[in-house]
Amino acid sequence: LSSTNSLDTFTEEEQLLRDSVQKFATEVIGPKVREMDENEQMDPAVIAGLFETGLMGIETSADHGGAESSFTSAIIAIEELAKVDPSVSVLCDVHNTLVNTIFRKYGTKEQQDKWLPLLAQSKLGSFCLSEPASGSDAFALQTRAKKDGDFWIINGSKMWITNSYEAEIFLIFANVDPSKGYKGITCFVATKDMGIQIAKKEQKLGIRASSTCTLNFDDLKIPAENIIGAEGTGYKIAIEILNEGRIGIAAQMLGLAQGAFNKAVPYTYERKQFGQSVGTFQGMAFQISQAAIDIETARLLTYNAARRKEEGKSFTKEAAMAKYWASIVAQKVSGQAIEWAGGVGFTRETGIEKFWRDSKIGAIYEGTSNIQLQTIAKFIQKEYAP
Ligand code: CAA
Ligand code: FAD
Repeated sequence: LSSTNSLDTFTEEEQLLRDSVQKFATEVIGPKVREMDENEQMDPAVIAGLFETGLMGIETSADHGGAESSFTSAIIAIEELAKVDPSVSVLCDVHNTLVNTIFRKYGTKEQQDKWLPLLAQSKLGSFCLSEPASGSDAFALQTRAKKDGDFWIINGSKMWITNSYEAEIFLIFANVDPSKGYKGITCFVATKDMGIQIAKKEQKLGIRASSTCTLNFDDLKIPAENIIGAEGTGYKIAIEILNEGRIGIAAQMLGLAQGAFNKAVPYTYERKQFGQSVGTFQGMAFQISQAAIDIETARLLTYNAARRKEEGKSFTKEAAMAKYWASIVAQKVSGQAIEWAGGVGFTRETGIEKFWRDSKIGAIYEGTSNIQLQTIAKFIQKEYAP
């Protein structure tokens, strides 16, 4: 299908990566998708496979055990994984675009030498910003960190943390000086064995194999050197990383839309009613054409944002647009795909309904759709307001 990839600007290396992720996703993840969704559990063999295939350190340097590939490569991998399973896609996305990137961008050489090889080879990471009382208003977070000799003591709780059930490395945002408001927010790294408690694992509508937990920190004691960046720079680290991360979620939603399309459209040509393939009735064919245009627009927005980031150009507005639009496209196309397949689309057997359930999260995490619109509005106002 030409709509599988109409962009022809990928480098040879990026195309090779795309082919190898496609193979891994189809052969290793594909047979497990339904079982993982129904059990609400990621298969450890899938996580191990992601490490073995080099997908957990895509941009990490070879010195640190990574694949030393481009940001666009990470985006390609997230898209390809989402075509088969959006849950596996977000696991890989958070690990690469949020966790690894924080170490690569803000870690000292010592921190990079210590943490990046672990993250590239065997230890899953999570990004702990949201809390029960601070989601969109992320900088109002209540978790506190206090210096105590050679340690930091962290108290508080985090909610909705992706990967946290399986993770061993946690980036935690806590305020070291609430009198400074969000300018007290600081980024720390902790490991599970330091005493991170999982208080609750959520049961969700979609991306059910991806773990989402509440974490409690009760006098969590971490070494003084486990601070990333300077005290009070955590809010900037969080939002700068989320600006990039939002391109990853756009790619996840793009892959999801394409995955649903790929499953449903061939069926419409096999299924006959009134002596004709249902996909060739004009009413169906035009819907399919419109969905292909929707996917194409999401793809262009997503890869435009990715290339801009890679080339060092401004990309925050473009990333917000890509995430906002790809989330809408994912929900719309996966919903239509169910209808195109008729009754069988509504059953769990085809896996089409799962794409629709999984699509809903795109408008919620890494900043809701309203937060993306607010971000875009700030740029428009800066440019046009008198
Ligand atoms: N890029 C860079 N800097 C930004 C920024 C952006 N997009 N938005 C705000 N800032 C900076 C401002 O410049 C300002 O910094 P200075 O004081 O140094 O100039 C500071 O942040 C505060 O700005 P505002 O007062 O405008 O911001 P706010 O308090 O109204 O809200 C926000 C800021 C919390 C970042 C909010 O816009 C936002 O994005 N909320 C959503 C939070 C989010 O995305 N959470 C995701 C959690 S991780 C996750 O979800 C992972 C997953 O599921 C897979
Ligand atoms: P709220 O902020 O309470 O928003 C509720 C509604 O109000 C939304 O529709 C929102 O758009 C609207 N709203 C809020 N403020 C405004 C405004 N100023 N203008 C207009 N409308 C507004 N967080 C992490 O830190 N790490 C993770 O790994 C992570 N993974 C997640 C995985 C899942 C499955 C889920 C569900 C969430 C995850 N999150 C994670 C948290 C996620 O980022 C938040 O859920 C999200 O930012 C929204 O916050 P909230 O749920 O508190 O909603």
